[in-house]
Amino acid sequence: MASTTTTQLFLTLSLLSLLAYSAHAQLSTNFYANTCPNLPTIVRNGMRQAVNRERRLGASILRLFFHDCFVNGCDASILLDDTATFTGEKNAAPNRNSARGFEVIDSIKSQVEASCNATVSCADILALAARDGVVLLGGPTWNVPLGRRDARTASQSGANSQIPGPSENLSSLISKFAAKGLSARDMTVLSGAHTIGQAQCRTFRNRIYNDTNIDANFAATRRANCPATGGDANLAPLDIQTPARFDNNYYGNLVARRGLLHSDQELFNGGSQDSLVRSYSTDGTSFARDFSAAMVRMGNISPLTGTNGEIRLNCRRVN
Ligand code: HEM
Ligand SMILES: *[C@@H]1O[C@H](CO)[C@@H](O)[C@H](O)[C@H]1NC(C)=O
Ligand SMILES: *[C@@H]1O[C@H](CO)[C@@H](O)[C@H](O)[C@H]1NC(C)=O
Ligand SMILES: *[C@@H]1O[C@H](CO)[C@@H](O)[C@H](O)[C@H]1NC(C)=O
Repeated sequence: MASTTTTQLFLTLSLLSLLAYSAHAQLSTNFYANTCPNLPTIVRNGMRQAVNRERRLGASILRLFFHDCFVNGCDASILLDDTATFTGEKNAAPNRNSARGFEVIDSIKSQVEASCNATVSCADILALAARDGVVLLGGPTWNVPLGRRDARTASQSGANSQIPGPSENLSSLISKFAAKGLSARDMTVLSGAHTIGQAQCRTFRNRIYNDTNIDANFAATRRANCPATGGDANLAPLDIQTPARFDNNYYGNLVARRGLLHSDQELFNGGSQDSLVRSYSTDGTSFARDFSAAMVRMGNISPLTGTNGEIRLNCRRVN
């Protein structure tokens, strides 16, 4: 009797955990294993070509994925072009004259369509391409859960209000990530993406002229190509040491008060993230491991699955 009850309890618990598991397992790493087996190779080759042409494209694609996931989830909403009757996210403040790399996704998408048409979402292509860009620039790899579908809508106002900006303070950065189900640790480790890529003068001018928590030589160096007025689009590397290599130098820069963005330096300014920043600055292995895990969590933000959304044929417009 007791053992029957125990067995029943065990079976019930197993069933419950199975249900709980499947509720979270909408995405899976082998989603296209039968329907598009060459997908990983096509995306990797497309990204290799792009990065060989311009290493910064690895960074630009990683940022596109972040900006996609933070607005209505990872649903390729950022890839939709504006039209006379449709306002997308490309002209939202964080993206306008800033988000780049769309042609890389177009080119990969057309090769994916040639190999397995109407099967793979633009959202999944972006998730794989972001991972591959990191790998090609020397960073860690991870398995990308797949099965996202593409949105038929976008939100310019969502992009304006939900993507964090370079002048924000620590508590505001933490709360914007919390709004997406990501922790302060996730925020700090994902910011390590600023180990690659470039920023425009307009995004760090106020920091290099007005902030006091900045290394004086670093500020002088950056001012040389970012005047107090004008030169808004002039570029500077987010990581002054190795801008085209995905490593943990970003955190060493922060400890040396050489964060380029005000928001970067907020992670090491006497607050709650200081100890984690210090630890990543000396432990590239734990940064790589935590970054990979956090990328999977970011990639899980409210995907469209099942029969929701669609498989776009052209990433720039709804079917
Ligand atoms: C924590 C809050 C964040 C803020 C405030 C922020 C802000 C910015 C800004 C202002 C730029 C420069 C854009 C320009 O000048 O055109 C930038 C670039 C970039 N961001 Fe972030 N970012 C944040 C988090 C992230 C995350 C989570 C990722 C990815 C996981 C990311 C990846 C990148 C990359 C790779 C670039 C360089 C892009 C390129 O060179 O084209 N950022 N970010
Ligand atoms: C996919 O390819 C098949 C065979 O070439 C074609 O008949 C079909 O119209 C294509 N589907 C879409 C949605 O493009
Ligand atoms: C951080 O920024 C928010 C929004 O701009 C502001 O309300 C808050 O007072 C700031 N917090 C600190 C600690 O400066
Ligand atoms: C420095 O801060 C002052 C006061 O907020 C502001 O008026 C000025 O434009 C800032 N300077 C730069 C170069 O951003």
